[in-house]
Amino acid sequence: MCGIVGYIGDRNSVPLLVEGLKRLEYRGYDSAGVTVLEDGHLETRKTAGKITALEKLLGNGEAPHGSVGIAHTRWATHGPPNTQNAHPHTDCTGEIAVAHNGIIENAGVLRTKLESLGHRFASETDTEVVAHLIEEAWDGKLEDAVRAALRQVEGAFGLAIMSSRDPGTLVAARKGSPLLIGIGRDGEYYIASDVAAVLAQTRQVVYLDDGEMAVLTRDGYETFKLDGRSVDKEVREIEWDLEAIEKGGFEHFMLKEIVEQPETLRNTMRGRLLDEEGTAKLGGVTISPAELKSIQRIIITGCGTSWHAGLLGGYMLEELARLPAEVEYASEFRYRNPVVDENTLVIAISQSGETADTLAAMREARRRGARVMGIVNVVGSTIARESDFGIYLHAGPEIGVASTKAFTSQVVALALFTLLLGRLRNLSVLQGREIVAALRRLPEQVEQVLGLNDSIREIARTYKSAPNFLYLGRGYNFPTALEGALKLKEISYIHAEGLPAAEMKHGPIALIDENMPVVVIAPNDNVYSKITSNVQEVKARGGRIIAVVTEGNLELDGMVDHLIPIPATIDPLTPVLATVPLQLLAYHVAVMRGCNVDMPRNLAKSVTVE
Ligand code: F6R
Repeated sequence: MCGIVGYIGDRNSVPLLVEGLKRLEYRGYDSAGVTVLEDGHLETRKTAGKITALEKLLGNGEAPHGSVGIAHTRWATHGPPNTQNAHPHTDCTGEIAVAHNGIIENAGVLRTKLESLGHRFASETDTEVVAHLIEEAWDGKLEDAVRAALRQVEGAFGLAIMSSRDPGTLVAARKGSPLLIGIGRDGEYYIASDVAAVLAQTRQVVYLDDGEMAVLTRDGYETFKLDGRSVDKEVREIEWDLEAIEKGGFEHFMLKEIVEQPETLRNTMRGRLLDEEGTAKLGGVTISPAELKSIQRIIITGCGTSWHAGLLGGYMLEELARLPAEVEYASEFRYRNPVVDENTLVIAISQSGETADTLAAMREARRRGARVMGIVNVVGSTIARESDFGIYLHAGPEIGVASTKAFTSQVVALALFTLLLGRLRNLSVLQGREIVAALRRLPEQVEQVLGLNDSIREIARTYKSAPNFLYLGRGYNFPTALEGALKLKEISYIHAEGLPAAEMKHGPIALIDENMPVVVIAPNDNVYSKITSNVQEVKARGGRIIAVVTEGNLELDGMVDHLIPIPATIDPLTPVLATVPLQLLAYHVAVMRGCNVDMPRNLAKSVTVE
């Protein structure tokens, strides 16, 4: 996601800051900027696009010069990825500059309050409120003003802050977004959101924990709790090399992204759950409750993994919001002659927001008068821009070609939208609260499932040479079966099929013998008893069964070859927990087969051609 670098010392900061930003490029970003203290005032240069564009700007005889500075690469969350919204952001006087990672949840309220006090905003970002809050709280010292400002902020932040009013100081603050201090040569200190940014200069770092801040001067640094109490922090020596750090110490981006899911799910839900009312608050769904109520039919469209998430969304909307919902491959929908009107809502789901078929499908739907809602990860992407309204996933850049964290976030985003619509229609507050509570438990439960990694690796070892795999599921877990099969085939090149379990007897059962691994997704849901009979059918024909079951359920033990226990949750959310072990299974099989996991053959991350 976004990247932060800060420097205070005796060298010109600009080349060091730009070098640091470059080290963070792998994380993905859409704009970049620097602010430097030059001759007693702040100079900011920022631009949409890549760091090369920023370098061009700086190289044009325009480079400011100064030995204190902060820099940022932005991955848009609030407001499109343009120059205006690029960080750093400043207050009204241009004397306070802020670079921020994370999301300020109460930015809207704070902005309104600050505007009523006369503050003028130059961007659409949530970050800019921090600069104005510090301006408002100013009492002579940067660290005190930051403390006072952050008392009003809800949400997640990693912040690097500087001011020409307190020129020899940099302030760092962290809550929910990683941040560290780098200890450079004599009298040189860095701030970074990721150790990769400072590794070329130092291997000595101090990691800030949530709720902590640091004040850096050329004479040293001090660490505090946000409330001002002093804390002692350990200095760590970094032993990893750069390549390992870019992947967060993981061997592949795909594994990193699988493991990130507790955090990405928290980010998708952050500030969006209303526990008391048992509903969701979705800032991007900008149509009125009355208009939402006027929706009579929903068509969900997307491709690949996003289409699988769409299938789940269709089930949820039908069951919980009692709306007719159809789910269509975007590539099919665009060439049909679909019946849609102004009471039809078309939901276009896309991680990249650039998939050509999904884009064409949504354009076709709009042309026919339907309203289009985008569920998109990449902010400011074409699908996001062309949707009437939408929900961003906030899952961060997905770099591995196989989609993992975007899928689970898509399912959760669809659950949030279902909650919102359901509560406007027929869902009781008690039902709503039950769903909210289940959503809140989800990140921790995913963490628990990730703990099964070692046993899943052993299962992968047993079946890594199988030429075929079948995945079976019913109800909400039929899409899980499709997703599990897609993950395996795309990264390991093993032929795999996902099927509704009961369809087996209509043909595919002929494939079963002792060489066929069959993954059965059988949590304790409303079709559990049905799927156990399908397990018997496979067993009777000698198939090797890997069953994903609810923990504590030992009924299938003895009947199947491997049990993968997942925590209990409500039926619509079982796919989130059941998909994670299937992602790990596919990952380990592919690694053991020597495949290029992050960049499988013949595939591109974003399919912008038909
Ligand atoms: C599978 C995968 C693809 C994408 C599909 C749609 O792991 O990544 O199937 O899901 O190409 O891409 P987006 O979501 O970017 O529209």
